[in-house]
Amino acid sequence: MSMNRNLPWRSVWITGAGRGIGEALAILCVQHGLTVYASSRTTSELERLKDSCQRYPGSIVPTPLDITDPRQIEEVMQSWDKGAGLPELVILNAGTHDPFPAQAFSAQRCQRVFDINLQGTINCLDPVLKRMLKNDSGQVAVMASVAGYRGLPTAAAYGASKAALIHLCEALRLDLKDSNITLQVINPGFVRTPLTDKNDFKMPALQEPEEAAESIIKGLLSKRFEIAFPGRFVCFLKLLRILPYSWYFKLIGKTVKT
Ligand SMILES: NC(=O)c1ccc[n+]([C@@H]2O[C@H](COP(=O)([O-])OP(=O)(O)OC[C@H]3O[C@@H](n4cnc5c(N)ncnc54)[C@H](OP(=O)(O)O)[C@@H]3O)[C@@H](O)[C@H]2O)c1
Repeated sequence: MSMNRNLPWRSVWITGAGRGIGEALAILCVQHGLTVYASSRTTSELERLKDSCQRYPGSIVPTPLDITDPRQIEEVMQSWDKGAGLPELVILNAGTHDPFPAQAFSAQRCQRVFDINLQGTINCLDPVLKRMLKNDSGQVAVMASVAGYRGLPTAAAYGASKAALIHLCEALRLDLKDSNITLQVINPGFVRTPLTDKNDFKMPALQEPEEAAESIIKGLLSKRFEIAFPGRFVCFLKLLRILPYSWYFKLIGKTVKT
């Protein structure tokens, strides 16, 4: 682990912590002594995470919930209200991907992606922001993706859900500018996880989840609005973002083979 500085937080809530990027983030935080409230729907993955982290200075508190169910989120919030309060850092990472082309377009599949990625994240943000505003303190980061920058093949639903999250965070960051609340958006490139294991194309600039977790923690420490990585891939995608449509469609059609 190359990161050797102390982290300024005592506790963190991470959604989607059972596997992939969320799990790597949870492990990094526990290694630095944080109490990690780890959420996802699959309790067995949270228990396995807890067991694998026994040797580290921090601790994992399995906090199973489904982010599409506001009642389950509220129950967890109330248990925190009765105890030590909301963790000072919140990372809303849980998400899903369901790639399908226009030829298989489906309102049902779009809704499932939107229910988790967009509305699920909003369901968590609502009680989190209320509590942070009440205390005028806290740090919250929302997991979007570079796939939210522009339309990509087979990613109509996924990309649109992530674009919506980026937009939502931009607006909230402006609203919160005079508060002590830090709101950030995380836009990773490709990271090797169970989610991307289902991609059947060669993923450019693919990173390991541990590298992604380090980039995210560094970005959280910086407090800058956007945490995007890896750098060169993100620069390339940001250039694509300003191209006229005719150039963009031609270039992306040649670059991305699905
Ligand atoms: N991997 C990449 O290349 C990449 C790139 C950019 C952005 N991202 C974003 O990063 C986040 C994590 O991705 P990943 O690759 O680590 O995915 P992953 O390996 O599939 O892990 C997703 C996590 O989210 C949880 N989750 C899904 N639906 C949930 C729900 N309704 N309620 C609570 N938890 C839920 C999953 O657990 P359960 O299924 O047990 O609930 C799991 O722990 C996602 O938001 C993804 O869009 C990933």
